[in-house]
Amino acid sequence: MIMCGIVGAINGSRVVNELLDGLKRLEYRGYDSAGLAVSHNNSILIRKAEGALSNLETKLDLSPVEGRIGIAHTRWATHGEPSIANAHPHRNDRVSVVHNGIIENYEELRACLEAEGFTFQSQTDTEVVPHLIASLMASGFSPEAAALEATKRLQGAYALGILFEGEEEFFCATRKGSPLAIGHGEEAMFIASDAIALAPMTQRVSYLENGDFAIVSQNGVCVRDENGTAVERPVEQSRASAESHEKGSYSHFMIKEIHEQPDILNHVFNVPVQKKQNCNMAYEDFESLSIVACGTSCYAGQIARYWFERYAGLRVDVDIASEYRYRHSPLPQKGAALFISQSGETADTLAALEHARLQGQTIISLVNVPESSIARASDHVIQTLAGPEIGVASTKAFTAQLAALARLVIAAGIARGTLSIRDARALKVELSRVPEIVSAALSLNGQIRAAASVLQNSQSALFIGRGVNWPLACEGALKLKEISYIHAEGLGAGELKHGPIALVDGNLPVVALAPPDELQEKTLSNIKEVQARGGQIILISDERTLSGLDFEPAATIAVSAELDAPFASDLVMPFLYSIPLQLLASETALKRGCDIDKPRNLAKSVTVE
Ligand code: G6P
Repeated sequence: MIMCGIVGAINGSRVVNELLDGLKRLEYRGYDSAGLAVSHNNSILIRKAEGALSNLETKLDLSPVEGRIGIAHTRWATHGEPSIANAHPHRNDRVSVVHNGIIENYEELRACLEAEGFTFQSQTDTEVVPHLIASLMASGFSPEAAALEATKRLQGAYALGILFEGEEEFFCATRKGSPLAIGHGEEAMFIASDAIALAPMTQRVSYLENGDFAIVSQNGVCVRDENGTAVERPVEQSRASAESHEKGSYSHFMIKEIHEQPDILNHVFNVPVQKKQNCNMAYEDFESLSIVACGTSCYAGQIARYWFERYAGLRVDVDIASEYRYRHSPLPQKGAALFISQSGETADTLAALEHARLQGQTIISLVNVPESSIARASDHVIQTLAGPEIGVASTKAFTAQLAALARLVIAAGIARGTLSIRDARALKVELSRVPEIVSAALSLNGQIRAAASVLQNSQSALFIGRGVNWPLACEGALKLKEISYIHAEGLGAGELKHGPIALVDGNLPVVALAPPDELQEKTLSNIKEVQARGGQIILISDERTLSGLDFEPAATIAVSAELDAPFASDLVMPFLYSIPLQLLASETALKRGCDIDKPRNLAKSVTVE
């Protein structure tokens, strides 16, 4: 099973740089290995390297290839270890293939092909594809007919780029389940897993539908749908930015993205044109709301549940996308489902969306990539406006999701009559100050360093909070484990004594979120229970609380916000308290020598279920 990013290109001269540019922008889909194939002078030349794309670039410097037609791949391994043998493209003498998805019947196909005499070099499901096509070509099919016939025999999900030896006028592309965009350049044509990868080459993009089979040549593309009928897929003007992703003066993308948050939040809360973004839904008609997402996006949804229920009187269920479809939950006739995804490509979230559509739900999505698969499959699209997020651990996209959700909640509360205009205005005023308080929280370096020293050599850590700070604690724990590889768990502080407190000893740091809100007293009691058992507390709270403590935490981080409307506390605090959690995770990971932008085993967007 493989998930990954694919690119293909044909032009009048050479394609290697275009293929590499495309791959650079697809590394969010995986960086276990990368490879490319070009067809030149009647042979297919392949270069592959383990690890990040830079390793492939080094290999190409040492051993260059040229060609005017080629395909390329960046991989995140789930079946078959990350190795050169398992890296794409896969090939035989006649055909070379890149694949995103999973071929479910590969074992059966492999057995048949081995019986025919084909030998396999890898442990991947993908390798059956070039052999199957070659087998069909040997029995008399033309290259393109063999490729089409082969796809009819594949079960599972795939986006494929297929290059033929000795054929420099076209390559084939097809998709089922996994997305595939076609780029229409000047006497050049491209394919890629998304439009972002194509942005440096062209803004003119069309999208293959499920089951489409395309023959891509230098001057255009011929597409047939799953019934074999010739079809034209509309060419759209992509809004994906061709800007290169640079770190500027920052050491890492993650650090840069953490520091971009005040500007992004200012844009959402204080720039008039953005304020209007897509809040024109019939909220008053919704009986309930299902929020569905994965990872960090799901924690944003869990925080928003408190907001929707409190301010908009809307009952909310939050599910992780990989479970939602299998829960057999009866969904109301007038229900709405909100899918949150930074990338808009997460396979579990997309599959959950399709499930909700079949159940007649109004589909709303909150995405950071407006042309993503999830956006294109939705009735209403709300953008997070965070700009491209490169660091694998989500930071600015998370607070931008919260910002968009906060605006949505206020609009829903007004429309549903649960929020007076006066209270709505008070909430908006508090939100307009969020960029400033977030900005102040970014200068906590000394306190963050001291707290990171407490975590640095730990095996495990707990993060606790109540109310909105419970999902926020889970997000803090996720950040720490993603990039520092320290086991961490987020808990509702009240749940601690129902089991997890058994873990507490002198070696267990407990990061506690205790803003001055109506639950603070209870959270502080839970913290004292940990302290009494020798746990090492890292307490994040406001200065007044920290100066009045009757016990001494191992470390403290002081963040403060004076609110004119105290009832806005649960709306405002998650923005403020996100910052020390992000900084704590990144500082701890850096102290441990981890690559915070590309943590091991992870991909930014998981495009298989
Ligand atoms: C992956 C990433 C997480 C991310 C999750 C959801 O697991 O490693 O950081 O939160 O996918 O991604 P999405 O793009 O749907 O928000």
